[in-house]
Amino acid sequence: MDRFIIEGGKTLKGKLKAGGSKNASLPIMAASLMAEGETILHNCPDVVDVRYMMKVLSYLGADVSMKGNTLRIKVPGKIKNTAPYDLVRKMRASYYVLGALIGKQKSAVLSLPGGCAIGERPIDLHIKGFKSLGCNVVLKHGYVYVKCKKLKANEIYLEGKFGTSMGATINVLMAAVFAKGKTIIKGAALEPEIADVASFLNRMGADIKGLDTPILEINGIDKLEPTEYTILSDRIESGTLLAAASITGGELTLSNTNPEQYSEVLNKFTEIGDSVQIDGNTIYLKGSKQKKSVEIDIMPYPYFPTDMQAQFMSILIKANGISTITENVFTKRFMHIPELKRMGADIELRDNTAIIKGVKKLSGAPVMASDLRASAALVLAGLVADGETEVKRIYHIDRGYEHIEKKLRKIGAHIRRYKK
Ligand code: EPZ
Repeated sequence: MDRFIIEGGKTLKGKLKAGGSKNASLPIMAASLMAEGETILHNCPDVVDVRYMMKVLSYLGADVSMKGNTLRIKVPGKIKNTAPYDLVRKMRASYYVLGALIGKQKSAVLSLPGGCAIGERPIDLHIKGFKSLGCNVVLKHGYVYVKCKKLKANEIYLEGKFGTSMGATINVLMAAVFAKGKTIIKGAALEPEIADVASFLNRMGADIKGLDTPILEINGIDKLEPTEYTILSDRIESGTLLAAASITGGELTLSNTNPEQYSEVLNKFTEIGDSVQIDGNTIYLKGSKQKKSVEIDIMPYPYFPTDMQAQFMSILIKANGISTITENVFTKRFMHIPELKRMGADIELRDNTAIIKGVKKLSGAPVMASDLRASAALVLAGLVADGETEVKRIYHIDRGYEHIEKKLRKIGAHIRRYKK
């Protein structure tokens, strides 16, 4: 299993270009199943989760290839409708094929995705949405069976007890594209990746209105055509690269990014004392040497994203005074805390609030990555720890960051990948 060795204490400085969004690519790849013919996707990050979704699409019958950051997906008229356990267990986002298959073939069978390192992750809202569209949904033997004679447009309220759901919004949106009449999704999640999926579907011929609002209106159509599309840039990769410059008190000019899609994150950089300048799709960040403590409330978009929680925790470890981070989206997403404490962090967890008392220094240690963003947090901590940090199990980080070590090396980090 690959691991990183990081030698801390280098100040990062330079220019980078943000890559395409993983969390937009995965549902867009699934949505491409809904049109017969060849769809071409540009700006797709070459990360393990995208490679994994390629396998899922191939299993279902599509012909998928990737060259650089361009994906070609050739879809036959009819494809399989079952995604078995061995395919789904490795990546929860495989559940996006549900919405696409229901839309295309009116039936789908998917192994139920289980929990994961970031906590329990139910799919009740997805199921509620499919039922509202007239589908019969049965859960048995660890599988979800969805079948409908005819998809019927409906008015659906999709918010749950933890707020809006990005996955449910996208899945129900895909299924509704072919539902006869006008479907209204209320309480839709607002993550920018959802509007990217909707724009892609519209490019294929769908009629979806209300993009970037909590009310989506879908007028059912009969057919989608394959298309060529450029995926939006990854706001979480962008935030993580800026965090790397910030934590080391360095400087980064980041291009090909969409600053308006993570303004809450940029506001926090400013609040901790960094300087941030925006010029169109480019951001310049200059990190302060001594961070101020802050309070962060993690909530669904447009608030501070859960996918940047772990990385900011690493930044706050050496801030002046006491910071708090309250995680309201995935309330148990704190697997990085014990690892950060092994490096000298002073963090106490009370329910879903982490209380971070600033310390003067971190010391390098062997640490274990547990999930994608937790791994990124450990890499960031390693950049400012004394001596060497070894981050094990970095396959987690490869799921969502394209060659992060190469990008960090380009701006001065001492980080190496070892194969064993
Ligand atoms: C997406 O997950 C992202 N994954 C996550 O990114 C991201 O953290 C999350 O949205 C929030 O922005 C992908 O895009 C592949 P949700 P998703 O449904 O769609 C609860 C990363 O690091 N909920 O918006 O699965 C749920 O438990 C990953 O890149 C229900 O209660 O998240 C959570 O508390 C990790 N019932 C909240 O809603 C449901 O049916 C938000 O989850 C569905 C969700």
